Amino acid sequence: MAKSKTQFSCAACGNVTSKWSGRCEACGEWNSISEESPLSAGPSAASLGHAKGRSIPLTDLRTEEVPPPRTTSGLAELDRVLGGGLVPASAILVGGDPGIGKSTLLLQAAARFADSGLKTLYVSGEEARAQVRMRAQRLDLTKAPVQLAAETNLRDILTTLEAEKPQLAIIDSIQTMWSDTVGSAPGSVSQVRAAAHELTSFAKRRNMAVILVGHVTKDGQIAGPRVVEHMVDTVLYFEGERGHQFRILRAVKNRFGPADEIGVFEMTGNGLAEVLNPSALFLSDRGTPSPGSVVFAGIEGTRPVLTELQALVAPSPHSQPRRTVVGWDGGRLAMILAVLEARCGIPFTGLDVYLNVAGGMKINEPAADLAVAAALPADTVVFGEISLSGALRAVGQTENRLKEAQKLGFTTAIAPKGGKAPTTEGMALKRMGDLTTFVGDVFGAG
Ligand code: TYD
Ligand code: MG
Repeated sequence: MAKSKTQFSCAACGNVTSKWSGRCEACGEWNSISEESPLSAGPSAASLGHAKGRSIPLTDLRTEEVPPPRTTSGLAELDRVLGGGLVPASAILVGGDPGIGKSTLLLQAAARFADSGLKTLYVSGEEARAQVRMRAQRLDLTKAPVQLAAETNLRDILTTLEAEKPQLAIIDSIQTMWSDTVGSAPGSVSQVRAAAHELTSFAKRRNMAVILVGHVTKDGQIAGPRVVEHMVDTVLYFEGERGHQFRILRAVKNRFGPADEIGVFEMTGNGLAEVLNPSALFLSDRGTPSPGSVVFAGIEGTRPVLTELQALVAPSPHSQPRRTVVGWDGGRLAMILAVLEARCGIPFTGLDVYLNVAGGMKINEPAADLAVAAALPADTVVFGEISLSGALRAVGQTENRLKEAQKLGFTTAIAPKGGKAPTTEGMALKRMGDLTTFVGDVFGAG
C-alpha cells in the first residue's frame, strides 16, 4: 500500500516532519506547524543514490577572481548598504513590516537603476498596474524606463523574464507568488520556498539580479521559512516606527559587503529622501536635555551614529515591576540593572524601568551599556560595555565615535579605560575602569 505523501513543516524554521505536533521539535516554536503537500520537482534521495553523477571540476584557492562590477543606483544610502552597488546575478531579500515603505523604496530604486542603464523589470503581485503607476506619478518617476507587470503566476513571470532578459527584476512580494507545481495555497511555506528557489536559481543561470520583497511576521521574521534567507546573497531589513518619518535599511547578511551596514531615509510626501547625516536627524528633536536622557555614540556598520536614549524609573504599583524596552535588548537591560544593584548598591526593587531609543532607532551594540546606566549633562556623550563584575570594557572605534560627537557640538565624553588612548583635540575625554567610579561621577556623591 502506498504511504500517504502528506508532510508537515514549521513556518518558523522550515523543518519538515511526517506528523503534526503543537510544538516544532527543531526550533521549539508553538503552533507553527502546518500541513504541506511535498514538492513535486527534484530527484528523490533514493534516485540520487543510484544515478551516476558527473565529476565536478575543482580549482585551488589561488584561482584569481576579479571583483564583480557593480551598478550604483545613485541613492548613496542604498548603494552603501548593498556593499557599494548592485552585483550582477545576485539575489537580495528586502524584508519589512507591511506599510513601512518597501514598495516605495524599490520603485525608487528601480527607476534609479533603470536610469543608470540597467534593464529593469518590476513585478507587482500586490497592486494593480494603475496603482503602481499612480505611485510612480506621486514619486515623479513616470519617465524612468522601468518595465512594469502585475502578476502572481510564477510560470508566466519566468517565461516573461526569459523573453525580456532584464538585468534586474524586482518581485513585490515573494508571499504573493504561486507556482502551479506546488499544491498548497499562495503564501504557504512550500509556495514561498518554491518561488524563492525558482527565482534565485533563474537569476544565477541567466545573470540577472533579483530583489525579492518579503513581509515580516509580528515577531520580526520574514514570513515563510528561514530557508529563503539562506537562498539569497543579501538580506536587508527595512525598519522604522510607523509614527516616525525615519526609515532604516539594515543589511543583516551580505555575501558582497559588510553586514550591519545601515542606510537612513526619511518618508516624505513624495517618497523616501536620503538622510546623509543621521546623527543630526536623530538628535534634532531633542528638547531641553533632562535627567534620564543621554546621547550614545554608536557605530552602525562603518559609520558612527549618535542617538538619544531615554530612561524613566518610577515606583511600581505592580507586584511584578515592569521592565519595558523600545529599540534595545530587554535581556541586556535586566543585566545592567542587576550589575548596578550588585556592584554599586543601587536598588531597583519595587521600581518600574522604561528605556526608549528616540527616533525609532534600534541599537544592538553592547557599547550602549554605559549610556543606559547614565543620566548626564547635555554636552556629554557616552559609550562602553559593562561586564558582570562591574568592570567597564573598551569597545571598538573610539576615535570615530568621538569625531562624530565633536562634529555635532559635544565637548565631553565618557568611555572605558583600556585600548590605546585616542587623540581627542578639543574634546574632554573621561576614561573610567569600573561602574562604581562611573556612577560616583555621574550621580555625584549622592
Ligand atoms: P509602501 O511602499 O506601500 O509600503 P510597503 O510596500 O512596505 O507595504 O508605503 C506605504 C506608506 O508610505 C503609506 O502609508 C503611505 C506612505 N507614503 C508616503 O508617505 N509618501 C509617499 O510618497 C508614498 C509613495 C507613500
Ligand atoms: Mg508594498
